[in-house]
Amino acid sequence: MRKPLFALLTLALVAPLAQAHTAGDIILRAGAITVDPQESSSDIWVGALNTDVAGTKATLNSDTQLGLNFAYMLTSHVGIELLAATPFSHDVGVQGMPGVFAGLNGKLGELKHLPPTLSAVYYPMQSSSAFQPYLGLGINYTAFFDEELSSEAEAKGFKGLDMENSWGVAYQVGMDYMLTENLMLNGQVRYIDIDTTGTTSFGGKEVKVDVEVDPLVYMVGLGYKF
Ligand code: NI
Repeated sequence: MRKPLFALLTLALVAPLAQAHTAGDIILRAGAITVDPQESSSDIWVGALNTDVAGTKATLNSDTQLGLNFAYMLTSHVGIELLAATPFSHDVGVQGMPGVFAGLNGKLGELKHLPPTLSAVYYPMQSSSAFQPYLGLGINYTAFFDEELSSEAEAKGFKGLDMENSWGVAYQVGMDYMLTENLMLNGQVRYIDIDTTGTTSFGGKEVKVDVEVDPLVYMVGLGYKF
């Protein structure tokens, strides 16, 4: 067991000397990314009843995928960064339908989305520090696709499902920890403002709901500096 111990010691000695980000660096990060919607919605408009049904709401569950970051350092403190990921998939649900409509509650269907986000990132620490926390502010575009009703919802009489795409602001805190000259550990959390309108139909009339998806997005992984 001497070799691994030696390797660890070498790593510990080298890490503090590792030069963190400098102008012109390209950083590629990969890891597990979770989109955890903190959703809140309007009451659901049910055209067949010609009213918003008080106390109803739309729900979304969370999903984890492969996340990728591409960053380019303009200086040792400021960079630009693009967030990409494999498509997220979420269940969409209906809650709060009263009385004779209670049967409409439950899983409505599924949707997929991609939330590419372009951010400016700021690293306040000196580049001699192996620990590099950062703040990011960016713009997000969320494209929804493959919206599909569940077979249960179709059996209940729903038809079609559509979600509007969204533009919004993304806030981020993260940290890189340099393990070697090039390899880093990374953790990051984002809050992304994603607002959409979901539309389906029931009884031949529109059913509509405004949803603030506003997810917390967590990613942990490894990065490599080129
Ligand atoms: Ni919002």
